[in-house]
Parts: sequence; C-alpha cells; structure tokens
Amino acid sequence: MLRLGLIGYPIAHSLSPWIHERLLNDQQLDGSYELFEIDPGHFDEQIIELKEQKLDGFNVTVPYKERIMDYLDDIDEGARFLGAVNTVKAENGKWVGYNTDGIGYVASIEDRFPQYLKDTSKVLILGSGGAARGIYYAFLRNQISKVDLANRTVAKAEKIIEELNGENFSTPLSTEQAESQIDQYDLVVQTTSVGMSPNDQQSIVKLKPELKGAIFSDIVYRPKMTKFLQEAKQHGANIHFGYEMLLHQAVYAFRIWTNTNPETKKIMNDFESKLEGE
Ligand code: ATR
Repeated sequence: MLRLGLIGYPIAHSLSPWIHERLLNDQQLDGSYELFEIDPGHFDEQIIELKEQKLDGFNVTVPYKERIMDYLDDIDEGARFLGAVNTVKAENGKWVGYNTDGIGYVASIEDRFPQYLKDTSKVLILGSGGAARGIYYAFLRNQISKVDLANRTVAKAEKIIEELNGENFSTPLSTEQAESQIDQYDLVVQTTSVGMSPNDQQSIVKLKPELKGAIFSDIVYRPKMTKFLQEAKQHGANIHFGYEMLLHQAVYAFRIWTNTNPETKKIMNDFESKLEGE
C-alpha cells in the first residue's frame, strides 16, 4: 500500500487529495493521500515525526517549499537551481526533492495547444515570485527564444534572469512597460496573486483590444475565470486556465512516486467540473 501526502499551512482546501486519489484509482494502485497540516512554529519537530511515518512520497506547498530542503538527502538539479521543492520521494528511506511546477506548466500548454510553442516563440511572464521562477526556468530549458519577465519590483525580475543565466533571452520589465507591449507576445503568463479570490475584480494589467492568436494564461485557479482571462478572451486571445497547470504538476509528482504514466486528458474534464461545483 502506497502512502502519499501533502505538507503545508493552511491546506484544508487543497485540491491535491482529489487529484491523487483519482490517479491512484485510475492506475489501480492501492494507496492513500493524507494531509499533514504543519504549524509553522512546530515545523522542525513535525518533519522529524513525519520521517518516522515512512511515507512513499509527499507534496510540499506554501510556506515550506524552501524550508523542506534542509531535511532532504538529495535534490534534483532543477529543484536545487530553483531553490524550491514541491515533491519529495522516499527512496530506500532517503528523501529526494524535485520541483514539478515549471515542467507541469509547460506540459499543460503543450497538452492543450500542441505544436504552438516553437523556438521562435515570445513569452512574457507577469510576476517574479517563486511560481514565476519555476516557469521561467522550464522555458529556458525548452529553448524558447525570448522569455521576458515583468514585475512591480523590477529588481526581482532582474535577479531571476541573472541567477538563471537568461541574459541572452530575457529583458526585465516594469509592469507598465509590459502592458504597453503586451500584444507582441505569443504567450503571456500571469503568475502574481493579483486577481485571486477574494480580490477577483483586480487584474495586474490593462489589456489592449487586439490579442488575436496569442495565448493568455493565468496560474490563479480560484476563481477559474480571472478578470485577466476574462478580458483577454474578450479581446480575442486563446485562454489557458490555472487548474490546467495544477493538474499537470500533480501528475508529474505522481509519475515520480509511482513510475506510471497517467493519461491527463481523461481527468482534466472531471477536474474542471469539480472546480465549477465548488
Ligand atoms: P508565488 O510563490 O506564488 O509566486 P510570491 O513569491 O509571493 O508568490 O510572489 C508574488 C508575486 O506577485 C510577485 O511578483 C509580486 O510582486 P513584487 O515582487 O513586486 O512583490 C506580485 N504581487 C503580489 N501582489 C501584488 C500587487 N498588489 N501588485 C503587483 N504585484 C503583486
């Protein structure tokens, strides 16, 4: 019996149990996915206790993606480079850390818009927090020719580009600069918390009227249709939802734990219905 789970705080409303129980079921694996809500004041003791529980693997979410790294025996190259881990696999009692956020994001685009991304594609990432960093890294790895980063605090965009050696592919921008040239990109990814429920009347940028052919994507999944996506759609863009990335990053974690290859499409429709019913 496979024992999987999630650590974070707070995690009561997490969608991960739904996803992983469905994956276990589809793969006909006997297992469970448990929530371990860890109070920040007791993180160190509780992680040591968790090690005793002999889980086969677990996800790590906010606020522990960096803090967990002190307890790992090994860290995959990508996660080490990002400085954040969202998936841990126990291998012969040793904990190995991975990060599936960026790779999951790129897979979710490729899944819904096959052949769309080319080495000549131009991508804009709005925001420069942890999520932006993971997605940026995955695009550099996929050899996309231009990936600009825009942020309220431009120095944070500059720092990511510098640390990930992206100077030849990327320009750091202010949000205002990005807004004025937003129609030049093939894909625009919104990674800030602006627009997230309950502030769902906000959008990080004001969009221009003509966006035909481009993909506008938001990693916020509550609400499903953010103001940013709503406006992009009205202006002719193709839109890509946050729940799509959420499912793909989870499937990557599940693959790492189980060495199976789940079919995402089957689950995507049910996941969307589940979110709509919330
Ligand atoms: P995550 O790990 O989810 O990416 P984060 O590291 O806290 O979260 O990053 C949040 C991102 O949202 C940052 O880019 C942040 O901009 P700053 O770096 O300038 O702080 C952005 N953000 C959050 N609230 C914002 C707001 N009200 N206006 C503009 N940007 C905002």
